[in-house]
Amino acid sequence: MSQDVIVVQGPCKLQGEVQVSGAKNSALKLMAAALLGQGRTCLRNVPDISDISIMSKVLKRLGATVEREDHVMWVDTAKVEKFETPYQLVSKMRASISVLGPLIGRFGRARVAMPGGCQIGARKIDMHLVGLEKLGVEFSVDHGYLSATTPHGLRAAEVMLTFPSVGATENMLMAAVTAEGTSVIDNAAREPEIVDLCNMLNEMGCKVSGGGSPCIQVEGVSLDELHPCDHVTVGDRIEAGTFLTGGALTGGPVTVRGIDPSFLRMACMKLEDMGATVETGADWICVRRDGPLKPTDIQTLPHPGFPTDLQAQFMLLDACAQGNSVVTENVFENRFMFAAELMRMGADIAIDGHHATVHGVESLQGAPVSSTDLRAGAALVLAGCFAEGETQVYGVDHIDRGYENYVAKLNQLGGTVTRVSADSLQ
Ligand code: EPZ
Repeated sequence: MSQDVIVVQGPCKLQGEVQVSGAKNSALKLMAAALLGQGRTCLRNVPDISDISIMSKVLKRLGATVEREDHVMWVDTAKVEKFETPYQLVSKMRASISVLGPLIGRFGRARVAMPGGCQIGARKIDMHLVGLEKLGVEFSVDHGYLSATTPHGLRAAEVMLTFPSVGATENMLMAAVTAEGTSVIDNAAREPEIVDLCNMLNEMGCKVSGGGSPCIQVEGVSLDELHPCDHVTVGDRIEAGTFLTGGALTGGPVTVRGIDPSFLRMACMKLEDMGATVETGADWICVRRDGPLKPTDIQTLPHPGFPTDLQAQFMLLDACAQGNSVVTENVFENRFMFAAELMRMGADIAIDGHHATVHGVESLQGAPVSSTDLRAGAALVLAGCFAEGETQVYGVDHIDRGYENYVAKLNQLGGTVTRVSADSLQ
């Protein structure tokens, strides 16, 4: 675990161009989906972040080989014959649960440590289990492990999710691809990462349609029809939105490249509501701001609603705007811890359950602060770029989970950001 600290000398104006990496929340699931290919799948534009390293360990523990060269990864699952994912890995990264669906789709069984909660919420998996049971999966829990079997085989089903859960949609998708008949996932998640997964599954020989819509159909095929593929991961919309926030916060212009602008329509609309100017091209978005930041209410919702993973970043914008706004977190039950850290830098925020009332202030003061989750950590570094004086952001491990070369990319944009060992600050 790194005891590093990110140190920002503020204020610093962020301007220029930066290339975003492949999407963490797609690449992790594409790696799991490679289990269905039963051979050597190539994944491109894979980000070099710690969560990807953990998923590599999960797959190797199952018997796969995982090699990577720069941002290209080869996952060979031909020799996978184990079905167990240990607590030590699941506890480090709850997205390890994403192997549940493909293990069931390939072997009809799995044994995965139950994921715990995290700082932002309980992160239950009840919807995963209810949906998979409708496909014929039987679960038992013993000693913290979830065991899945399909004594009567996988059968297609029509399932309606009570909430468009990203993880539940993905696990059901990856199990249903070999279920006999045509399955329907209603009220499915519509995130761009779901579309990316559906595309890869079809490149492997699956028959999935409706990805990105609230209703996904999966026509089951036999396992021997599935094969490896060569797939390019989509750009990371949350990393892109994080840098765009930095541009709107300090003035910009900041251009992010390697991202489909349609992934960030809601966030870009809110940036314009806040007084920024947004321009887009085929695979880039540019943001600048000349006038004052205008307070704008934010309500997080499943895609295409405002992304919860940009909530902290936009709360920061509101905290520096000229007026009052309300930020409502509808997706996770405990994702306002960032506010407490930002208040240590002079922000004026009142939390009431799922609502945060933000009273904009003219300036922030640099201070020692701690990351509570990867998005909050990234936003605290941006706050340091706006603040007067030095900001020390602790808990850099959180940031390393989802941001590749975050410090280098910020400095490429003109930031004055360094990464030092905590000992050197004693
Ligand atoms: C994915 O988490 C992302 N993680 C999250 O990104 C993202 O915030 C989230 O989707 C929403 O967009 C990855 O893809 C690895 P959910 P996931 O299932 O799949 C509740 C980041 O910063 N729920 O859509 O876990 C759940 O507790 C991370 O990159 C149930 O109650 O999200 C949460 O409150 C953070 N029961 C809400 O639904 C279930 O069975 C949304 O969860 C499943 C979910």
